[in-house]
Amino acid sequence: MEKKIRKICCIGAGYVGGPSMAVIADRCPYLDINVIDKNIERIAKWNSTNLEELPIYEPGLKEVIKRVRNRNLFFSNDLEKNIAEADMIFISVNTPTKSRGIGAGQASDLKWIESCARLIGEHSIGSSIIVEKSTIPVKTAQTIKSILDSYSFKKTLDNEKIKSFSILSNPEFLAEGTAISDLENPDRVLIGGEDEMAINTLKEIYLNWIKGSKIITTDLWSSELSKLIANAFLAQRISSINSITPLCELTGANINDVAIAIGMDSRIGKYFLNSGPGFGGSCFKKDILNLVYICNHYGLIEVADYWEKVIDINNWQQKRLTRIIVEKLFGTISEKKLAILGFAFKANTNDIRESPAIRICKDLLEEGCYLNIFDPKVNELQIKEELGVNDKDRLPETNRGSWVFTSSITQAVNGADAIVVLTDWSEFNNLNFENFSKIMRSPSWVFDTRNVVNVKAAKLYGFKVWKLGDGSTN
Ligand code: UDX
Ligand code: ADP
Repeated sequence: MEKKIRKICCIGAGYVGGPSMAVIADRCPYLDINVIDKNIERIAKWNSTNLEELPIYEPGLKEVIKRVRNRNLFFSNDLEKNIAEADMIFISVNTPTKSRGIGAGQASDLKWIESCARLIGEHSIGSSIIVEKSTIPVKTAQTIKSILDSYSFKKTLDNEKIKSFSILSNPEFLAEGTAISDLENPDRVLIGGEDEMAINTLKEIYLNWIKGSKIITTDLWSSELSKLIANAFLAQRISSINSITPLCELTGANINDVAIAIGMDSRIGKYFLNSGPGFGGSCFKKDILNLVYICNHYGLIEVADYWEKVIDINNWQQKRLTRIIVEKLFGTISEKKLAILGFAFKANTNDIRESPAIRICKDLLEEGCYLNIFDPKVNELQIKEELGVNDKDRLPETNRGSWVFTSSITQAVNGADAIVVLTDWSEFNNLNFENFSKIMRSPSWVFDTRNVVNVKAAKLYGFKVWKLGDGSTN
């Protein structure tokens, strides 16, 4: 048996809430979906008539939004009304790592989850199904349940209509950059919970476009834990392949050939073996830190240490890249100009959360160089929030380097000593080295950390090339 659902509300109009509700609205025209957020500016962008101004960039998102917005998908700041009217409420708010207090630097900060639970407790009428979609530590559903139970109890004492809540865990496995296709054709949908009616109700929604055999159900904790572990395993693969890159550089081997050779073993598989400047994004580091925190909490020190190493390798790879750039440019980059191509944490997104470019650019600036930064989708303000003071407001007496935002690749490269590719945007596959050789200082260098540059073309025009994990270019 399932409950008939008509109105859905999603708290959080971010990288997860926005695209996932857009796809549900597209596939289930009979549902009314309201995505709500406390951030007024963000909602205004989602409602913008110019689809280029949507707050997030995802291939295919514009087209879906065009079909469903103001048909059965609405974006609003009216939290109370939409929570009150909803039969089902998704929670898709952010849960960053705590920056202070107990668990600082490891545990997730659940203050936004808690405030959502309180909002729901306050404004929800009748029975509701609450679906947690945010990536959260194990047993967060319990926190939400305890808060909601206390509101129900209080209403009973006040002789008001009793509310009942069922909590489900339905982790979102979409990857940014491929969010729409991941949502339309997921490997699996995971639903965790205890209330069979609530589970079936959510399952019915997904059955509109996903085969039943891909929808799996578990208890709450297994579902929450599976999301953490899936991300930990994916991140571990990246640290594993990245740990081999210097060995290839030193011995003359090639990391891409190694990845192909090992990936053809069906037990290993060919996906997620691209070496690079380390993983970024909002999930991997946060989730591993959570796993480490939970393991330490249960006294599993060796297990915690094992997973922590995945992050250590990631940090080490980023530091290592800066050292190589400095070393190749005659031991100093002070007052030299570097063109940074790509600031997003991966291609096809405008997201820079935990992007390796942040750490690498900060380290380069410490060396006193000038950076010309270009990214096709990231804007200057986002970069400023991470790197701080740019060229315009730099104090001349400081030895620290400075950066400027450039609106084209050519502008970034103009007058530079080196090009450093940090994101795998396809725009960087066919760089115009002929033109660059005329406008850069020589010797001109290319540092390719993403295996996207046409090395032959670069060498043809006299460029010196360093490519991650490629022993032949060192
Ligand atoms: C990840 C998970 O893939 C997704 O299932 C989960 O829901 C959220 O976290 P996301 O962070 O959006 O998704 O992107 P993903 O494609 O996993 O890439 C993460 C980072 O790893 C990026 O910085 C990417 O460049 C890097 N990466 C990925 C590699 O360095 N090599 C690879 O082979 C794959
Ligand atoms: P994710 O990648 O997990 O989707 P984002 O940071 O992109 O994370 O989006 C989370 C959204 O949730 C933000 O737009 C933020 O304003 C919103 N949010 C956080 N807490 C609340 C809350 N209590 N009520 C409404 N919106 C919230």
